[in-house]
Amino acid sequence: MVPEKLIAAAREAQNNSYSPYSSFKVGAALLTAGGNVYTGVNVENASYGLTICAERVAIYTAVTAGEREFSIMAVTGDHAGYTYPCGACLQVMAEFSPQLRVLVTDKNSIYKEYQLSDLLPQLFSLENQEV
Ligand code: THU
Repeated sequence: MVPEKLIAAAREAQNNSYSPYSSFKVGAALLTAGGNVYTGVNVENASYGLTICAERVAIYTAVTAGEREFSIMAVTGDHAGYTYPCGACLQVMAEFSPQLRVLVTDKNSIYKEYQLSDLLPQLFSLENQEV
């Protein structure tokens, strides 16, 4: 699948963002190793800390459907600059697919591509701990 198509899926999902508190709409689209696409949006809450990011909604929706291997995550936002995944979302991406490609876009869907390891060079892993 070409990046533009995955970005278009994220952009379409973004319309359903529930973000009355930040007014920052985010969309995500996740391509699985098998070629399926799962989308997510940020869902906010009056108790702000309960907000969940678009990327995690996409990943958790895919995992719920039985998916475990992901190849590309596209992220869109409605602000002028590039919308990058937050640290929490990067950690969740790394749980399943350390080799994930991440497409970050500006509001015109101009994109930059990263490897997940570019964005999160060191991650929390139980295997890294000395006990
Ligand atoms: N947000 C995401 O959906 N993904 C991110 O990676 C960073 C932030 C959302 C959360 C909140 O609804 C809004 O953007 C402003 O922080």
